[in-house]
Amino acid sequence: MNTVHLASELRAQISQWRARGERIALVPTMGNLHAGHLALVRHAHSLADRVVVTVFVNPLQFGPNEDFGRYPRSLPEDVRQLEAQGVDLVYAPPVEEVYVNGFPPATTITVSPLSAELEGAFRPGFFTGVATVVAILFNSVQPDVAVFGEKDWQQLQIVKRMVADLRMPADVVGYPTERAADGLALSSRNQYLTPAEREQAPGIHAALQAVAAGLRAGRDDYAALCAEQMQRLEAAGFRPQYLEVRTPVLAQPTAGDKDFVVLVAAVLGTTRLIDNLRVEQP
Ligand code: PAF
Repeated sequence: MNTVHLASELRAQISQWRARGERIALVPTMGNLHAGHLALVRHAHSLADRVVVTVFVNPLQFGPNEDFGRYPRSLPEDVRQLEAQGVDLVYAPPVEEVYVNGFPPATTITVSPLSAELEGAFRPGFFTGVATVVAILFNSVQPDVAVFGEKDWQQLQIVKRMVADLRMPADVVGYPTERAADGLALSSRNQYLTPAEREQAPGIHAALQAVAAGLRAGRDDYAALCAEQMQRLEAAGFRPQYLEVRTPVLAQPTAGDKDFVVLVAAVLGTTRLIDNLRVEQP
């Protein structure tokens, strides 16, 4: 496995594979890899001949008061794990190799109105940062297929929409969330939790399951159902930011809908956690 830092080195390797007619899968990450990322890598292997993983903590998707500075960085350990997964190439560029004409870039991509809702309402500019870097990484790697975790459901929908709107020649594939035995979705940010908070944290998954149970029982008073669980999260020591029932493409659901995703964000101590659950009724 090769680890490269320059777009020119990346391009040289990609050209060789393309010349041989090989199919390329991309798994974009911000590093600090956990079992959830490794599951994406394994899925990528099943979809292509070559798997490229990018490791880039993208400054454009962090707000001024967010955790860009303290976001955990662990490239040597990431590289070791990716090598063990049989990854073909790791691309870990410095900021100036991604934003070639200076930071912040003059050109950005915003998928409206979805980028301003849910996560976007609490993290202004976040999805513009994500869409822009994903477009740059797609242009650099030119993957046939790219794999994203369903834990970031809204991000997945936004990337899919961007690719469709801009006719980008890549398939975007989601992969289910990996969870700890107690239900907590794996996330690089879980390591910010104190031991006591880590004990409380599965409460966020329990709230999603309670909403899911209500939906399965036929409730269609979506706002009231979510309000009950927001209160339960507050009582359990969380500061919930949103808990909503949407359709899988994140439209507002209407009575009679049978296919939903329930999405939540809540702060525990100083750690912001997000999660979601797909609920399909027969
Ligand atoms: O999900 C992430 O880790 C990031 O948002 C992504 C897709 C790698 C873009 O920086």
